[in-house]
Order: sequence, then structure tokens, then C-alpha cells
Amino acid sequence: INCNVPRERRHILEVLFNGLRRLEYRGYDSAGISIDSDNDDDHHVDVKEGGGQGLPPLVFREEGKIEKLVTSVYQEVDATDLNLEFLFMSHAGIAHTRWATHGPPSPRNGHPQSSGEGHEFLVVHNGIITNFMVLKETLVRHGFVFESDTDTEVIPKLAKFVYDSLTAETESSGEAVKFSQVVMEVMRQIEGAYALIFKSSHYPNELVACKCGSPLLLGVKECGEENKRGAFVSSELTLAKDGKPKEFFLASDASAMVEHTKKVMVIEDNEVVHVRNGSASVFKFEREKIQNSRGMPRPPSVERALSTLAVEVEQIQKGNYEHYMQKEIHEQPESLTTTMRGRLIHGGSKVKGVLLGGLKDHLKTIRRSRRILFIGCGTSYYAGLATRALVEELSGVPVTMELASDLLDRRGPVYREDTAIFVSQSGETADTLEALEYAKSFGALCVGVTNTVGSAIARGTHCGVHINAGCEIGVASTKAYTSQIAAMTMMALALGDDTLSSCNRREAIIDDLINLPNKVREVLKLDNDMKELAKELMEEQSLLVFGRGYNYATALEGALKVKEVALMHSEGILAGEMKHGPLALVDENLPIIVIATRDATCSKQQSVIQQLQARKGRLIVMCTKGDANLMCPNGGYRFIEVPQLQDCLQPIINIVPFQLLAYHLTVLRGFNVDQPRNLAKSVTIS
Ligand code: G6P
Repeated sequence: INCNVPRERRHILEVLFNGLRRLEYRGYDSAGISIDSDNDDDHHVDVKEGGGQGLPPLVFREEGKIEKLVTSVYQEVDATDLNLEFLFMSHAGIAHTRWATHGPPSPRNGHPQSSGEGHEFLVVHNGIITNFMVLKETLVRHGFVFESDTDTEVIPKLAKFVYDSLTAETESSGEAVKFSQVVMEVMRQIEGAYALIFKSSHYPNELVACKCGSPLLLGVKECGEENKRGAFVSSELTLAKDGKPKEFFLASDASAMVEHTKKVMVIEDNEVVHVRNGSASVFKFEREKIQNSRGMPRPPSVERALSTLAVEVEQIQKGNYEHYMQKEIHEQPESLTTTMRGRLIHGGSKVKGVLLGGLKDHLKTIRRSRRILFIGCGTSYYAGLATRALVEELSGVPVTMELASDLLDRRGPVYREDTAIFVSQSGETADTLEALEYAKSFGALCVGVTNTVGSAIARGTHCGVHINAGCEIGVASTKAYTSQIAAMTMMALALGDDTLSSCNRREAIIDDLINLPNKVREVLKLDNDMKELAKELMEEQSLLVFGRGYNYATALEGALKVKEVALMHSEGILAGEMKHGPLALVDENLPIIVIATRDATCSKQQSVIQQLQARKGRLIVMCTKGDANLMCPNGGYRFIEVPQLQDCLQPIINIVPFQLLAYHLTVLRGFNVDQPRNLAKSVTIS
């Protein structure tokens, strides 16, 4: 927070804690916070810019969940008589929730990381500093003592080193060293991916943030309303440039600020934000110029209109549900409706085709591509896999599947005649983002399929489709997966030509798209059945899922759900490969789910079932409603019967029982549904 309306310390703490609570889904190993300590109430006014030294800021860090930090901060407040009513005329506070990369979760590895005694510089960091070893060696030679195992710790220490050198250099001229100048010098020396926020005892009511590779948003809130009510009116009010008092928020994700403001500026790579005394300036970091002139000339400022977030606070709350994952599974009829809204074109009384505004000028180029590459990670990759066959069928262009990290590891060939489609819920996944830069460097047309307007992938691609599934908070992706498939199905329809031969198929798919939300509602009624199945399976060590054709993706994604949240080993297997190894695992104990809903591969799945039966396999068969007898005439197995849709849309229906199963298994096994062990929602480091 940095505003020019007096705020109580209590308010500042609560805003920061709430922001952390909203971001907890992105990391939950440890958390930390720093605010200013008591001082005379306008100490910051007396501090000569860059030349003064306020009291050391207060820093609290705790291992574990945010609430542990909150409790320990308030305990400290009680123990030390820290005055919560203390008013800050303007205040700069920072907080962080961590997903460990370097060093195990512990208070000393938590953020803010510090320059050392007196907390002259404090830093919160999202990303990885790749040259931290070299920097650390140099700083150790200069007498710095490191206390953590993190890569981040080099940043505040380097900032102190830079500050001391710049101060010494400018001493004779009497010129003050600016906070942003220190940060830009640090940026010049660090390599890797980062979004950083700096706080300093030398600049008590200021924050400087910068980014390269990891997401950063600046939120701006007008504080006029409170003034009118007289809640925090002060005669000392300093006004921002436009004369209106403001409060500023910096965060990696909109969810941390949406309850305060919807007006945001998406900060781009190599931009620096300097917030002080109720105003914020954004400018461009020019690596070379800074290097040559030690940061003295004024860097070019960035003028960009604020955008308005489309997120509503209710979307990021659990409502009547116990967990976000549960809420997100059950809201799929609505999220799918939103994905399709305004995109199905009516011709007379009938829906005739699809209109994807973000793609319309590029369809010809995509159709003429040499091939299409689907690139993503995790669930997003599987969503691509689920639509691969339809895109090939309707466009006639071959589709290659690429896991982003593997494409990069192999430096696989990409051609300028290729269309590369980047699928990512967050739009910020580091590997996918790097693969985007890689594909762009070969001149391929790059298309984004994301759920986050303004995300790095949405901005970095030439064109794309927003899936509009709404905020997804549960780490395990559910509604984003089904909306990704729906969006890419529409993309396949848009790419297909309007020939008579494909007309019936296209119409049938469109009809079923319209039916989709109702069919999902129907399949959600299996909730209790899936809970029962979960009770039966909760003590198991392992689960296999066999699928093929359109539902190979369902097998992989279904197994991933069980694995990632219920922490049970689970493997999705292409049924066509069964005889080449997996069959060896089959016995009467190992539970196996076979997906055998009606489509062109259904008869092959029937023979898979027979072969498994012959080996006394413990089967659970997912089949089309009414097909149980047909699939297993001898009975004796458990069935999951689901409604039927066109084959290409069936994966949307078929994944829902797996989502429910994974959810109930997790609850029954006593694990954290929304924050599975060791995982994070947005993997912004590669
Ligand atoms: C992480 C998340 C997954 C997600 C994957 C890709 O592993 O836990 O739920 O599927 O990243 O994320 P993206 O945001 O690119 O879809």
C-alpha cells in the first residue's frame, strides 16, 4: 500500500494479509510481511530524499500457511505493545507467500529477504535469479553475510551495495540517490526471471517494483470516497498529480487487489514502478544507458491507459462450497456457457457457425499452415490433446503435440509456415512463455488460448482466444480444462471449411455445444456415486485409467487429477498400448477405470475390457448411459454411466466424474484439496 490518506497500522496489516490470502493458491510454503515501525508520525517527511535513515522496518516471516503468519504477527503485537492505531500519513508495506525453489520452507528462507542488519533493503520476489551464485560470491567478498539458502537474498544485499557505492559517488555533489536508481542498477546486474518489490529504511514511505519475465500488476484506487465520509481526513493530505488522493497496489495477480480496485496497469518487462507520497511513476529501464551513465539521466516514462479488471470479488470467494476445487467443478455449466457466449452465430433460427473475434483475421493463414503445434504444460497440454483429432479432421492440417519444456529441451524444429497454439490457463507459465518466444523467433504464427486477459501469453501472441472460464483458484485445474476444450472445439469449427460434406458433422457438433451445459449438469449428479467410489478406493495405493481416441486425454487428465490432489499414484494409459506392458500390472486388486463411451473406438475398448476380465482385473467401466450390459454382459463391475455427446465433446463430459472422484478421494484421505503438497497454480519459473 502506498497512499496519501492517513491509514492505521491495523488497516495496513489487514490489507496485506488479505492480499496474501488471495494469493495463497500460488504458493503456500511460508509467508512474510514488512511494514514500517513506529516513529514520529511524519518521520518520512523529515527524511531527506535518499539521504536519510528511518527506523528499521518491522519484518515477520513464518513457515507454513498465511494464517500462521497472521497469528504470529498479532502475538508479537500483543507482546510488544505495537500500536495498531498508529497512523501513517503514507505507508509502504510488502508481503509474500512462497513456493520454495531454492532452500526448504523455513522463516529464514521466506520473503521479504533482507540486506542485513537494519533492513536497509527488503525484497519480495517471484521468479528465479539464475546468476545468484556469481553475485553471492562477489558480495561475500565484500563482507556480506548470507543467512538464507535463497537466490533472492542476493537482491537486497546487492541493493545495499549499490546504494552505498552511489551514495559515496554522489557525496561531494550533494545530489540525492533515488530509490529507483538503486533498483535499476540492481536490474542491470541480475539475470533470470523476476517480479520484485523493494522496500527500504532509507526510503520509508516508498516502494519500487520492477519485472522481467514474471507477472506484475499495478492497481490504482481513488481514495476520494473515504475522504468524503471523513473517515481518514487529514489537513496534511498531499495530493497526487491529478489532485486526487490515491492508494496503490502491486501484486503478481489481480485477485490480490480486486476487492480494492479494478483499475490496473499491466507492467511490462523492463519497466520500473516507483510509488511515493501517493503518486506512482512508471518508466522504462534501459539497460545500456544506465550502464553508461550510472542511472543519472531521467529514464523515459511509460504512459499507458489503465485497464479495467473483469473479475468480480464473488468469483474469487468460495461461496457455499467447502473448497475452491469443489466450487469450480460445480460451476462448469456456467463457465462453459460463458466460454461460448456470443460466439455461436445464428443463421435464421439455427446456429450456423462460430465467430471467434480474436482469430478471424488469421484463419486463412492458419488453414494454410504446414502444421499446427499445440504447446502447453499439465492440464492445458491435455486439453490440446483432447481437441487434436477434431482440428486435424476439420482443418486438414496435421497437429503436433508439444510439452513446452520438451520442445525447449530438444530445441525442436519450428518453421515460419507453422501455427503454434499456446494453451495456458494462467497465461504466465514460464515454460509455455519461453516456448512462445522460441516459436516466435522462427517466425511461426503464434496463437494464445488463455483464461487470463492481459497475461504474458495473451499479450505475447499474435492472436488468440480467451476461454472466459472465470478465475480458477483451486491448484488442480477443472473448469479451465473443460472451457479450453470447448474453446478449441470452436476454433476447430472456425478453421474447418464450409463444404457440404462436413456440414452435418459441423451442425451436430454445434447442436451439442449448445446442449453441453445441460449435459454437464446431468453428469454432476454423479457426485454421490463418485463419493461412494472414493470411499471404496480411498485406501488404495494406485489407480490405472485406460482411454483411447478422444478419451486418451481424459485418461491422462483423470489420472493427473487423482495424483495431484488425492496424492494417490495414478496413471493414464493409452488402451492401445495395454498389451505392450501395462497388462503385466493387472490382478484382482489394482483398480482400473476403463473409459468406453460410444465413439469409433468403443468396440476396441470392449475387447480391452474382455482382456482385462480374462485376467480378473478389478474394473470400473465408464460407459454411455444404458450401455452397461452391452459392455459387460456378465456384470459384476462398477459402472460410471454418462450422457452421450458428439465424440469430440465427450471428453468434456467424461472428465467430470474424475474431477469429482479426485475431490472426494482427497477429502476422505484428509489432504488439502486446494493446495496440494508441493504444487503451485502458476508455475512462473522454468
Ligand atoms: C501447474 C498447475 C496445473 C496447470 C499447469 C499449466 O502445474 O498446477 O493445474 O495445468 O501448471 O498451467 P497453465 O496456467 O499454463 O495452464
